[in-house]
Amino acid sequence: MKKILIEGGARLFGEVHISGAKNSVLPLIAATLLTEGVSAIDESPWLSDVDCMCRVLNHLGAATHFERGTLSIDTTRIVGCEPPGELVRKMRASFLVMGPLLARTGRVCMSLPGGCAIGARPIDLHLKGFEAMGAKIDIGHGFIEAKAPRLFGSRIYLDFPSVGATENLMMAASLAEGHTVIENAALEPEIIDLSNLLSAMGAKIKGAGTNTIRIEGVSSLSPARHTVIPDRIEAGSFLVMAAATGGELIVNNVISEHLQPVTAKLQESGVFLEVGYDSIHILGNEELRPLDIKTLPYPGFPTDMQAQFMALLTVARGCSVVTETVFENRFMHAGELQKMNADIRIDGNTARINGVSHLQAATVAATDLRAGAAMVIAAQMARGTSVITEIQHIERGYENFCQKLEKIGTRIKVLDI
Ligand code: UD1
Repeated sequence: MKKILIEGGARLFGEVHISGAKNSVLPLIAATLLTEGVSAIDESPWLSDVDCMCRVLNHLGAATHFERGTLSIDTTRIVGCEPPGELVRKMRASFLVMGPLLARTGRVCMSLPGGCAIGARPIDLHLKGFEAMGAKIDIGHGFIEAKAPRLFGSRIYLDFPSVGATENLMMAASLAEGHTVIENAALEPEIIDLSNLLSAMGAKIKGAGTNTIRIEGVSSLSPARHTVIPDRIEAGSFLVMAAATGGELIVNNVISEHLQPVTAKLQESGVFLEVGYDSIHILGNEELRPLDIKTLPYPGFPTDMQAQFMALLTVARGCSVVTETVFENRFMHAGELQKMNADIRIDGNTARINGVSHLQAATVAATDLRAGAAMVIAAQMARGTSVITEIQHIERGYENFCQKLEKIGTRIKVLDI
């Protein structure tokens, strides 16, 4: 089991290059199943989640090859429609193959994606959408079978603007017969990235990035080449890290517009930011002001940045309030931060954080991916050397994290024991 050791107290300094977005590349990989031939995804990060998604596609008959940031996927030969249970249960995003596989092969049978540490995470919105498009869905013994010799365009209203459901339905609708309208669709930048790839493949999509997406189904799509957008959550994590250590960092390869909810909160906390088009310069401040944060679907404050900000606010001058509205159980990191002397009280979906003078090093766990980033931030603020366990969660979503951290001054060691 690998662990990370971090000696606190170092100010971060220098430049960091942000990788392609994990949450974009996973649906992009799934989308290649809609075509026959070789698609290429440039600036793809190499992460354990990307490896897992590639293995799902390999199992279905696709060939994948990763070289120097380009992921090539040959989907000429798709021989299966049953993604392997052990991979689907491991990574919820593998459920994104359901829409494209159903559209291409007419049948999919897969495990129910497991609930995870941050909540139940049902898939009802995906399934209702497929049913509206004419699929017959059977659920039993932990498996879902969806059948549709042909999918038909439909008007679909999502009760919640689910990112995954919007993506799955956009992919299925691209090859359905007729016109699909997805209402109350998610607005996340990753939706626009997927729409851009699908359009490059020949799909007819209008309105991605607004809450009404219109798709005119086509009879076939062609392989395409596409560059993934930069990872706004990785960028946000490094910005918080600079703020937490009173450091100075230039965060390169970002789309600043995607980071507005994050940069607005950092400015409110008192740090100095110079926001360019594709890079952000941050200068930390010794005294951080407390914040009120409420997570919301995009363009609201991202739930994927909640844990990192909670770590930062443990040493702000005063009481902060963090409200989580997207997931029902996303405060696991609060318990770990308390082990480091943080003063946090949880009441339902609200956390009250009273800033303390300093955090104390401890052994803490990366309870999920973003909680792992929060532990790295807290460890850098703490007095002494902290040990972070369960770092496989961090490896799911941060490319070359330890190398990037070391380069900007984090005193970090990885132990593989
Ligand atoms: C995606 C991101 C994840 C991020 C989340 C919210 C990927 C690979 N993951 O996850 O990092 O935290 O968006 O920004 O892109 N829900 C239902 N029924 C459904 C689907 C979702 O009730 O059928 C609920 C979920 O339980 C959750 C909320 O909707 O409470 C948001 O989920 P969703 O937007 O679907 O998130 P994901 O696509 O799973």
